[in-house]
Amino acid sequence: MIATLTDKTLQTYRRGRRSKSDGPLTERYRPRRLLDVVGQDQAVQVLRAFAAKPFPTAFLFEGWTGTGKTSGALALAAEIGCDVTQKPPEFGGLHTIASGEQTAESVRDLYNQMWRCPFSGSGWKVLIVNEADRMNTAVETIWLDRLESVPPTTVIVFTTNSPANLSQRFRDRCTRVVFESDAVQLDAAARRLIATVWRAERHRRPSNAVIDCILQGAVEGGRVSFRRVVQRVASVSAARASIRADVRRNVR
Ligand SMILES: Nc1ncnc2c1ncn2[C@@H]1O[C@H](COP(=O)(O)OP(=O)(O)OP(=O)(O)O)[C@@H](O)[C@H]1O
Ligand SMILES: [Mg+2]
Repeated sequence: MIATLTDKTLQTYRRGRRSKSDGPLTERYRPRRLLDVVGQDQAVQVLRAFAAKPFPTAFLFEGWTGTGKTSGALALAAEIGCDVTQKPPEFGGLHTIASGEQTAESVRDLYNQMWRCPFSGSGWKVLIVNEADRMNTAVETIWLDRLESVPPTTVIVFTTNSPANLSQRFRDRCTRVVFESDAVQLDAAARRLIATVWRAERHRRPSNAVIDCILQGAVEGGRVSFRRVVQRVASVSAARASIRADVRRNVR
């Protein structure tokens, strides 16, 4: 098994822990390395092998929401040597297009930028196109053409929850990487993630009842979202803290 939550991983999470003003828990606990992407052993294995010997290509990361697609793309960028700490990220080789920004013009512009060398990092560039299935036909046609020759030292990662909405021709130009969401299959991984985040936040182990309660709220229709797992840790933890505060007030 590749993606286990080791003590090293826990340290990484703890290092990522900053003040509450640093944004939502989901951002603070976003996996930084491929090994930290939990429950996606197969995808992680494929991506680690690729990162060891990268070549210009396009990936299609597909799977249910909150399973690690965007995180996996960012971790892949870090692993192939993009300087992900650079600001703006483009200077370090990391480019992203949000779903609403996929216009013919922005795609052409970004594709042209792929021919330029970043200011820092290994020289590799990663372009992440989130919610790729939302692109319109004109944009898809541009991609069909551009994907025939991905620029040197460039990796394009499309992410989608609905691969069926993309044309077969588009999908055939990408290497498919599936992110799992089956709640039964991912039960142990989700429980480990809950325990890790809870311990990092509250400095104690969660009880089985707490883990069950968090997990229940993160599963829908037999699928688990790790995003929801982390969000539920935040809400359950806050609820318990408030109950404790009430009890203390009443005792005084
Ligand atoms: N496999 C995972 N391992 C650890 N944390 C995860 C994983 N998947 C999701 N998370 C948590 O959920 C947050 C959101 O994950 P991410 O953005 O990678 O999801 P996504 O698959 O891209 O979802 P969407 O389809 O909605 O864009 C992360 O910042 C992290 O806190
Ligand atoms: Mg995403």
